[in-house]
Amino acid sequence: MAGSVHEGPEFGVGDFVLLHDISLDAFMENLQLRYEKNKIYSYIGEVVVSVNPYKTMDIYNQSYVDQYKGREIYERPPHIFALADSAYKTMKRKAKDTCIVISGESGSGKTEASKIIMRYITAVTNIGGRQEVERVKDVLIKSNVILEAFGNAKTNRNDNSSRFGKYMDINFDFKGDPIGGHINNYLLEKSRVVYQQKGERNFHAFYQLITGATDPKLAEMKLVRNPDKYHYIRQGGDSKCPTINDQNDYRSVMHAMKTLGFAFKHAETLWKIVAAVLILGNIEYEAQDDVHDLAEVKDKQMLANLAGLIEVTNDDLNKALTHRVIAAGGNVVDKGLTVSDAYYARDAFAKAIYDRMFTWIVKRINEAIDPKSSGVEFVGKNTVIGVLDIYGFEIFDNNSFEQFCINYCNEKLQQLFIELVLKQEQEEYMREGIEWQHVDYFNNKVIVDLVEVPHKGILAILDEACLSVGKVTDEMFLTAMSQKLGSNDRYTCRQTNPSDKTLEHKRDFRIKHYAGDVTYSVIGFIDKNRDTLFQDFKRLLYNSEDELIKMMWPEGKLSITETTRRPATAGFNFKNSIIALVDRLATKEPHYVRCIKPNEIKSPSKFDETRCRHQVMYLGLLENVRVRRAGFAFRAQYERFLLRYKMVTKYTWPNYKGSAFDGVKVIIKHMGFEKDVKYGKSKIFIRSPQTLFALEEARDRFMPNIILFIQKMWRGGNARRRARKMRAIYLIMARFRRYKLRSYIKQIVEKFKTVRTMRDYGKSIKWPTPPKVLSGWVTELQKAHNRWRAHMILRKVPKPDWPMLQLKCATHTVLRGQRSDWGMRRRWDGNYLEMAKDNPSTLDFVSKIGSLKSHDGFTRILFSSFCKKVNKHNQCADRAIVVTDKGIYKLDPKKKYKPMRAIIPFQQVHGMTISPDADQLAVIHLTDGNDLVLCLHTPSKEERVGELVGILARYWQKVFHRDLELTVTKQPKCSLGRKSRQIAVKSTAANGGPTFKKDGAQLALFWPST
Ligand SMILES: Nc1ncnc2c1ncn2[C@@H]1O[C@H](COP(=O)(O)OP(=O)(O)OP(=O)(O)O)[C@@H](O)[C@H]1O
Ligand SMILES: [Mg+2]
Repeated sequence: MAGSVHEGPEFGVGDFVLLHDISLDAFMENLQLRYEKNKIYSYIGEVVVSVNPYKTMDIYNQSYVDQYKGREIYERPPHIFALADSAYKTMKRKAKDTCIVISGESGSGKTEASKIIMRYITAVTNIGGRQEVERVKDVLIKSNVILEAFGNAKTNRNDNSSRFGKYMDINFDFKGDPIGGHINNYLLEKSRVVYQQKGERNFHAFYQLITGATDPKLAEMKLVRNPDKYHYIRQGGDSKCPTINDQNDYRSVMHAMKTLGFAFKHAETLWKIVAAVLILGNIEYEAQDDVHDLAEVKDKQMLANLAGLIEVTNDDLNKALTHRVIAAGGNVVDKGLTVSDAYYARDAFAKAIYDRMFTWIVKRINEAIDPKSSGVEFVGKNTVIGVLDIYGFEIFDNNSFEQFCINYCNEKLQQLFIELVLKQEQEEYMREGIEWQHVDYFNNKVIVDLVEVPHKGILAILDEACLSVGKVTDEMFLTAMSQKLGSNDRYTCRQTNPSDKTLEHKRDFRIKHYAGDVTYSVIGFIDKNRDTLFQDFKRLLYNSEDELIKMMWPEGKLSITETTRRPATAGFNFKNSIIALVDRLATKEPHYVRCIKPNEIKSPSKFDETRCRHQVMYLGLLENVRVRRAGFAFRAQYERFLLRYKMVTKYTWPNYKGSAFDGVKVIIKHMGFEKDVKYGKSKIFIRSPQTLFALEEARDRFMPNIILFIQKMWRGGNARRRARKMRAIYLIMARFRRYKLRSYIKQIVEKFKTVRTMRDYGKSIKWPTPPKVLSGWVTELQKAHNRWRAHMILRKVPKPDWPMLQLKCATHTVLRGQRSDWGMRRRWDGNYLEMAKDNPSTLDFVSKIGSLKSHDGFTRILFSSFCKKVNKHNQCADRAIVVTDKGIYKLDPKKKYKPMRAIIPFQQVHGMTISPDADQLAVIHLTDGNDLVLCLHTPSKEERVGELVGILARYWQKVFHRDLELTVTKQPKCSLGRKSRQIAVKSTAANGGPTFKKDGAQLALFWPST
């Protein structure tokens, strides 16, 4: 039901059923319009009408395959892919065998269509990419190459005409993948082997061998590379055909044989047989003497060459070609052949060898594609698709027995088509409970009967003639026919119709076929029907040294005296095989391709109206449309119909709650089509195409919104899916983090469990490396732990001692371990000069400090001690150093602690230098370039430098918020009078006090070491 729906009105209607006016003219107009617009496919319901485009069409590529794969036939523009898909789908869905019958006259494109169908089927199967199935597909496709080489020929109708009938079953496994196949071949036109009409060629294989084989190979076969040298292939005239490349084809055939697993030896033999036929055609005879006219082979060398090719002895071959051995009444008589008999025997021999070879090739291909040996497992139900590509109806200038058989076969297929198409339609109406209206159509059963009916049919009359004893001539057969068939209006000959001058006396008869009148020449009918080959040849070939040739001729084993039953005639065999074929097709669900040949000149642009009209008529296409239309133009199952059109009413969109049947009724009522439809049991039937168009149009109107809706839903769904995914990701991340955290904390808890009882409160515990996200947190945790540790330690220290501890900590921080003894274990009292143990005259000190306090406004003394100091003149003197919360004083203890200069504010101090040893040197660097260079000096000889450092460092921390710049070095430097001086610490006697002295350009501190 596609076509116009998908293609637009400029292409006519895609389905002829939708034509407004069912007349031959309208049909032809639509067919021509479509052909001219490159639409070579159309439908009549489910039948595909195909017009040979005679040009390469880019409509079979993968994108087309994708468009048709799995679609219903009416969903896309007409295409043979849709039919192939329908056959495939039906087979798969119903697990039922289907078949595709391709008919049409010679050159209408049947073989091409069958190949396109095969390619489509191989393209849509084996999604799993199973290797065995791929091999089967390859083999199925390549088998065509071989069959065409040996069974196709250039005729005046078609450059690649199939000269045999072919029915191929493709087997599928339960998954729908091809697993093999089987080919039935029908009647090869073997007369072509020895004779071709003007303009025609022999089978392609002959030319392929002559042009494609290598020089050594040709020489080995005693052939020359010139087709004109061979009688059997030059009778048609030009051996070249512009559309055929024999040389390439030879290579393709060799390749295909390899793919199909032909033994190399066997392939060689096949070509040798072809060569033998060529040479056989050149064998000439002459009479041995004037009296008897007994034949003798002229060229003995040629005879030897031929014997070599088929591996028989020269003598045997010579005998077979010139003699005949017959058994008569128990005696064996050896009779020489006359020259003309010898020529006849030669040709019969050539035809038989070739025909036998072709049969063997088909058998061998069947072995290669046998589903049982494909290696694919055989499970479940196996189904087949049969593809029938049989020679089309043909009329030549001279029509003989072969044309008679071919045309009879076409009659049979037409009969099947009529029966099935009508039967199906009828059955469907019955099944669905719909009234059926009869349509008149031409039933060709009368012609079929004329040919095949027992006793009275042409084939029966022919067989009867062949069976009669004595010499029977073709003429006698013609007479018998005119006697028995005279009353049949489908049969004429000169005897029954003496006034018809177009029929030759004693030679011609005419049959009114469904596809046209054909005049047959009776010459050769008897002979071709008998189809006998002298026993001599069979024995000759059975005795061949070549294993394959021997195998092809098993009946040569029989000795001459063994009487054999008269073999069945060719006509009889053919009739039976065709009847069997038709029966076989009738059991399958049929699909039809009706091929039309647009012109006789193989032109891609010419639509020969008369020729086409003729084909449309005899193919019964118009009747087909009528039958289809008489009832209903369209039918569909309720479910499918509802699904396709549910958007046209708001009651059925988006989902109808009731049954599909009720839903369909709602749609029809809503659209006002009640009068044009009938409701069957499972399907709705729509009478006129217009109704369907209206439905399709309505559907088209709603489609854009639906598409938008679907897009919206899809996008929404997509976004939701993405969001869900993200949420899940975050959740997983969070959970994981928590898990890491928890396990880290667990680890920490485990490690620090006993920390309270540890001596160092867990200082020595090594912290496990935290996960990255926790590093900040762990630093805080470590700080907390340190604080706790400090608390635990300080807990034991009395509160008043805490300032001292702070000082000690400050010292520790700035010293960084550079001085071994810094008085850590000692109690730090700070204001030593107020203590009697240090200072005998504390009163003076206290009173002086009192006055300084009120003068300079400091509040506290942080440190005080006696010391030695040195000035820029290297003079050493006793002094007291006092550090207050405002600055530093340098006092003279000998003058009642008179300040030696004004208070030095801390802002003027920019650093301090001490030595790492036990000496009490302390250099306080001042910004004016005149440092305080001291050595603390106490009666108890205590270590106090550490305390002084602590006091300054703590002050720096608290007030300046930075560390005191402290240098600890064994070579301390100072600046005195803006000059840098090195101070060397030297030891001196333990009992004296420390003193500074000039030491060359430097200073020296003499420190009494203990
Ligand atoms: N679909 C097509 N696309 C392109 N060319 C085609 C197509 N169908 C047929 N042809 C052309 O037409 C020629 C004849 O087609 P084909 O051999 O299939 O005819 P046929 O019906 O099998 O004839 P016969 O009965 O003689 O075997 C092909 O060789 C090819 O050149
Ligand atoms: Mg063909």
